[in-house]
Amino acid sequence: MSKQVRKAVFPAGGLGTRFLPATKVIPKEMLALVDKPIIQYGVEEAIASGIEHIIIITGRGKAAMEDHFDHSFELDATLERRGKHELLAVSRGVSALARISYVRQKEPLGLGHAVLCAKDLVGDEPFAVILPDDVIDADPPCLRQMIGVFDEKGGSVLATQTVEGPAISAYGVLAGSQDPHNPRIYNCTGMVEKPKLEDAPSKQAIIGRYVLTPRVFELLEETTPGAGGEIQLTDGIKALLKEERVYGYTFEGKRFDAGDKFGMLQATVEFALKREDLGAKFRAYLKGLPL
Ligand code: UTP
Repeated sequence: MSKQVRKAVFPAGGLGTRFLPATKVIPKEMLALVDKPIIQYGVEEAIASGIEHIIIITGRGKAAMEDHFDHSFELDATLERRGKHELLAVSRGVSALARISYVRQKEPLGLGHAVLCAKDLVGDEPFAVILPDDVIDADPPCLRQMIGVFDEKGGSVLATQTVEGPAISAYGVLAGSQDPHNPRIYNCTGMVEKPKLEDAPSKQAIIGRYVLTPRVFELLEETTPGAGGEIQLTDGIKALLKEERVYGYTFEGKRFDAGDKFGMLQATVEFALKREDLGAKFRAYLKGLPL
């Protein structure tokens, strides 16, 4: 078994109901954050973290993602004819980004089921999972930080963030204890999916980045549908915990839930303000608003 994390799975087979009506036809992963589809941020993060092969789990109506990462002959030829060399480089750059495979999830049976769809392409090696609607602004990239922890500890790593108050009920929450040598690492002993505030075992909420050992595939195959009738990834990881070490890792950086309207608005403002070409103009515009 290769010990190197070379492959990343992007589950993108969900329905994106929180973003209706925009997602009735357009996949949530293709919604633009400033000028780039949100999934491209995750793909760029994976590549910058040393990932060589990206596996996108798609579903009905998701073909736009495949077209996006492919060559667009008509567009490229038109841009070339018009002498739009910078835009041509942008268009060609997207299709040259990475080696990408697609697996179709026939029915959205849950995140655990989506990950399981990648079993044959991942094989017997550790792999990453990136939820494309969690866009993370971090340097070094969040996944690179996590692979560093995986290499050091040799067990699965789940990205976490500290969530205060009742908002914790929207997440999977870790039980366990902080590592005495590294306050960012959490030695995980259990996890609870979407607990009430009073039942939450900690403030460590799991977000959309994972580095997992391939044993999780076999455990997911044995997992029966849980909350909401879906096969939950957290149930597979809970089973993994009984056999192997699993760590939480509080990454350095900022995460935005771009699959949610408010999260997308926050990300849009913060990413636009950071842009060299837009930041100053946008800041001046915001300052002029009667807030
Ligand atoms: P979410 O619950 O955030 O996505 O799942 P969703 O179901 O698309 O969106 P809402 O909640 O209805 O707005 C987390 C990730 O898992 C993927 C989604 O595409 C998303 O990236 N997913 C979820 C699948 O690939 N397949 C599924 O069956 C469920």
